[in-house]
This record gives sequence, structure tokens and C-alpha cells, in this order.
Amino acid sequence: MRSSWNIISLVTLFHTLPWASSHSPNPFAGPEVTPTDPCYDETGDARRCVPEFINAAFGQEVIVSSACGQPPSRSCSIVERDDRPAVRTCQVCDASDPRHAHPASYLTDISSAHNLTCWQSENLQGSPLNVTLTLSLGKKFEITYISLQFCSPRPESLAIYKSMDYGRTWSPYQFYSSQCRRMYNRPNKATITKQNEQEALCTDGHTDLYPLSGGLIAFSTLDGRPSGKDFDSSPVLQDWVTVTDIRVVFSRPQHSRALPMSGRETKDPLGSPGTLPTYYYAVGDFQVGGRCKCNGHASRCTRERDGKLVCECKHNTEGPECDRCKPFHYDRPWQRATAKEANECLPCHCNLHARRCRFNMELYKLSGRKSGGVCMNCRHNTAGRHCHYCKEGFYRDMDKPITHRRACKACDCYPVGAAGKTCNQTTGQCPCKDGVTGITCNRCAKGYQQSRSPVAPCIKISVIKPTAVISTTEEPADCDSYCKPLKGNLKINMKKYCKKDYAVQVSVLDMETVGDWARFSVSLVSVYKSRGEPLKRGDHVLWVHMKDLACKCPRIHMGKRFLILGTSEGSVTPEHPGLLVDKNSLVIQWRDIWTRRLRKFQRKEKRGKCSKA
Ligand SMILES: *[C@@H]1O[C@H](CO)[C@@H](O)[C@H](O)[C@H]1NC(C)=O
Ligand SMILES: *[C@@H]1O[C@H](CO)[C@@H](O)[C@H](O)[C@H]1NC(C)=O
Ligand SMILES: *[C@@H]1O[C@H](CO)[C@@H](O)[C@H](O)[C@H]1NC(C)=O
Repeated sequence: MRSSWNIISLVTLFHTLPWASSHSPNPFAGPEVTPTDPCYDETGDARRCVPEFINAAFGQEVIVSSACGQPPSRSCSIVERDDRPAVRTCQVCDASDPRHAHPASYLTDISSAHNLTCWQSENLQGSPLNVTLTLSLGKKFEITYISLQFCSPRPESLAIYKSMDYGRTWSPYQFYSSQCRRMYNRPNKATITKQNEQEALCTDGHTDLYPLSGGLIAFSTLDGRPSGKDFDSSPVLQDWVTVTDIRVVFSRPQHSRALPMSGRETKDPLGSPGTLPTYYYAVGDFQVGGRCKCNGHASRCTRERDGKLVCECKHNTEGPECDRCKPFHYDRPWQRATAKEANECLPCHCNLHARRCRFNMELYKLSGRKSGGVCMNCRHNTAGRHCHYCKEGFYRDMDKPITHRRACKACDCYPVGAAGKTCNQTTGQCPCKDGVTGITCNRCAKGYQQSRSPVAPCIKISVIKPTAVISTTEEPADCDSYCKPLKGNLKINMKKYCKKDYAVQVSVLDMETVGDWARFSVSLVSVYKSRGEPLKRGDHVLWVHMKDLACKCPRIHMGKRFLILGTSEGSVTPEHPGLLVDKNSLVIQWRDIWTRRLRKFQRKEKRGKCSKA
């Protein structure tokens, strides 16, 4: 049968429409074989990608409300012949004979201009005259055209409907009729503006009688719609071209009066003498040109094991149309990709402490539309929107990166001494009750001693207690002889420097009494000399016997700095680890001018001066 169009030219025609740019020059080529993923550029950045442009109807089942051949029937039509009068030919339709069958499967099989296999309806006798073709694509597609190539004269009136929800609801897509108002109650040739771009039009083109066969009806979904040029930014049109199912209703065949006289038969060329005229619809090719809808986030659609067609989503998207972000990729809202922006979904920032997150619009707006992800169920004792700080009862271990599993350490506040369980996030200092001190609040401060009360675990020491001796009472009588030979001789020289095991500068922070001992918390500011085990700067404990302290040899003041020259002999006892200072140690309040002198001693010692002395 003659045809004024063929499939390839149709596809190429519509293929040039706005978003139709493809990576594949041939629309019917198989999946493109390229080494790189079309969804990412050479540098690995996401970019918009789309499945190839295809005839989505090809090979799909079409449900028809009418098909000839059961029982076998005879139909007649007028056939034009080049340069000669049209003639009437009649043929038999027999569903059980492959040579004379016209099943619905012929609508979407391989067709060519030279070999058009046609579906054909039953002969229409009286009413109803309507016949319906329903095509399910099984998935959302974005289509640019629907075309029907007829083997019969084109119908006088036909309607195209679309569904976006797999056939549950239908809406008009396009009408063709020579009597739009009467048939479909629509104006003929309405104009489409930006306000009514989703309106179905009725046109009176395409329904002419001629050609008597091989005529085409092609509906271009974007044709004449103003936003078609700016398709990327028109959700209305994106919606308009989206379909899961298409239904074509042939409402009325070409009126017989319009048909030409054959010149030799009856007045009604379609009618056999003495019988009713045979009207029928016959279509050789039903095409739907478009792309599997993946919103710019996939370059392919594939069939799952159950036969369902789905997008192969990239850009951290998922869903049948890549229409949502993958779990944990909710840092910004899902968006369709455009030519300029891939709009890929971005992961939440949770510092490796959470596996789930959610999107928060308020935060997203506050961030200047950059980031709206909120981590959920932060693990490893972290908290916060990005699991970026330590939860209550924990503090940050600054030696480890925040992404470390052990970045947060337990406060371990001493239950009796601490006023709460929450410590300072950076220092780990627990809130101590009155008179309690220490990072975890585990000991009594200077001037306090342990009590049995959980409310006040440390109480002020009364005046008669040993510590009071340090400052308030008279020295014991025998101090002079006890403190010899050092008493009063607080000069430092090279000889003394050489004799001692260590020379350090300390800052005295705190004191508590332990039996007959005073236990000072000191901070080692500088170490000038340290024989034996090297001394490190930082927190240390300094022990002084109460007797020595009472005689003021050494004399130690809270909050002051001292130079200490001492021996390590017997300084560390198992029950009193730390430095030991006694009447033989040199303990002098620090003066800054000593720095130079001590450096000089250090140099001399290095040159071996001490061994000579
Ligand atoms: C036409 O198509 C039919 C069915 O597909 C096939 O059997 C036949 O060989 C084709 N004929 C030509 C001339 O291509
Ligand atoms: C055909 O038209 C009749 C009358 O208008 C209507 O009742 C019927 O539902 C239509 N059938 C189809 C398949 O559209
Ligand atoms: C935690 O300790 C640091 C350093 O001492 C201090 O600057 C900060 O204010 C403390 N934070 C709180 C909440 O007390």
C-alpha cells in the first residue's frame, strides 16, 4: 500500500525537538557503546543524561475493542491508482488464516512503507461507530509524537487520551474532527498560550478523505506550545509529555457521501449492491516517539527480571523514573537534571557517624539553598546535625579527627564529686561540687577534706588541721637545726646545679594532705636538667613531708612559681608516685632572670664542667 511517510523519517523529524538531543546519532541504534558513562563528564562530574529516542510502541501489545475475522468477513474499499480512476476492491478478513488475518499485533510490528501489515476493525454497522486502541508502555515515557498510519481512509473524528497513572485516570490529549464543536464540544483551532499549555486541542486538519489509504495522523505533543522552547524549565510541559498509557478512540469513519464515485458501480462505492456499506478502520502502524522518562538521571532503561521496565538511575537517584534521592542523599531536594545543571542528589555530611539522614527545608533555606541534610541516630557518642560534636556526657578527644570512632571520650564524672554528668566539650572538665577539684571531680580542693556526705563530699578543713601549720602557726622549735645545712642559703651556683639530679621550674596549683604528707599539684613549666628518667612538662605531683613544710624548708606558696633543684633518691615511693622535695632540696621562688643563668649551667654541664667539679 502506498504511504506518504515512513517510520525513519518520522522519527528523525521529531527527534530534533527540544530535549530530544541524544548521544546516539541513529535513534534506532542499540545502546551506545562508549567507554565513558554518559551521565558523567571526563572529570567525573555529573551531567544530564537521557535514554535514547525510540518508538516506545514498537512490539508492545495494543488492546483493541474490535478486530475483524471472527467470524470471517468481507470488506470493500476504494483504492486509488496512479492516473486512473479509483476502483473498489473487496477482501476477506479471516482471523484463522494468516494470509487474511489483521490482528492488533500488526499495529506495532515491524512496518515499512513497502510492506504495511494492517490491523483492521470489524465492519461498522450502524452504531456504535467507535473503536478504541489502548497501548500500555508499562512505565512513564516522555513523548514527542504519536502517529497512526492508516490502511483505511482516515476517520472523520478521532480522539487521543493519555494516562500518567497506568490507566487509572485518563485525560484528553488531542482531537481531530471536521466538526470539533459537535463531536467533542471543543473550538476548532483554539490557540495555546502559556496559561493553558496542558489543554487538548481539536483540529480539523489530517482528517481529509485523501489519501484514501496510507494517510497519516501525527500528533506532536509540543507543537505550538509556547514553553516548548524552554522545556527544561517548564514543569507543566514536562508533565504534558509524560505518559504511561495512550488510548486512541476512532469516533466516526469518513462519511460515505464524501467518497468518490468509482465510476462503474453503485452510488455508494463502499456498499455492495443490496447490502449496507462497509465501514471499518484499519491501521498499519501505531508509533509513539519518545524517551523512557528518567528525569535526566539515566542513559538507559532496562527490563527487570519480572519484565518491568526501569531506569538505570545514576546521580544518587532511585525509583522507576529516578524520581527521588537514594537513602542518605538528602542534602538537597531532588530535582530533574537540566542541560546546565545535573542536579544530582548529594550525600548528607555525618562525619561517618550516621547511616541515615533526612532533609530539612528550613535549614536548607537558611544555608542559602546549599545544604539541608540532618543526620539521624548519630553513633559513637556524637550528636548534632552533622554528628559533629560529642553528646552529653562525652567530650572531644582533640588528638583524633572528628570522623574517628573514638573522637568522643566519656566524661566519667566522679558521681559523688561532680554536680552533673556533662563535662566541658573541649577540656573534659566535669562540674565539681563545692570544695571538689580535678578533671573528673575526684578529689578535694586545697583547704578541704573528704567527708561522708554525698551532698558536700569535701568540707573545709578546720584551723587546727595540719595544713594550717603551713601558714598560720609558729615554726616548731627545732626547725633551725632540722633544716640545716640549707636553711637560708638559697643561692644557686654551678656546684649546686651539678650536685642535683633535676632542675625544674614549676607552678604550684593545688594542695591536699594525705596522712603526714602534703601532696601538691604542680605544672612543670620548664625542665633544665633531669638525670635518670626524663621529666616531661605538664601536670605532676610534688610530695613534701608535713614536718619539712612546717619548718618552711622548703617554703611553698600556692599559685606561685618555683625553681626546684632536687635529688631523685627516694623521691618516688610506690604509694606516693611523683617528685619528692625535702629540706635538702633547693626550692626558690622563681625569677625570670634565672633563665639565662640556668641555660649557662646547662651548656657548661654539656662541656663536662660538672664531672670536674
Ligand atoms: C511483509 O511482512 C510479512 C510479515 O512480517 C513477511 O512475512 C513478508 O515477507 C514481508 N514482505 C515483504 C515484501 O517484505
Ligand atoms: C462508544 O460510544 C458509545 C456511545 O457514545 C459509548 O457508550 C461507548 O462507551 C463508546 N465505546 C468506547 C469503547 O469508547
Ligand atoms: C570549656 O573550657 C574552655 C577552656 O577552659 C572555656 O573557654 C569554655 O568556655 C568552656 N566551655 C563551657 C561550656 O564551659
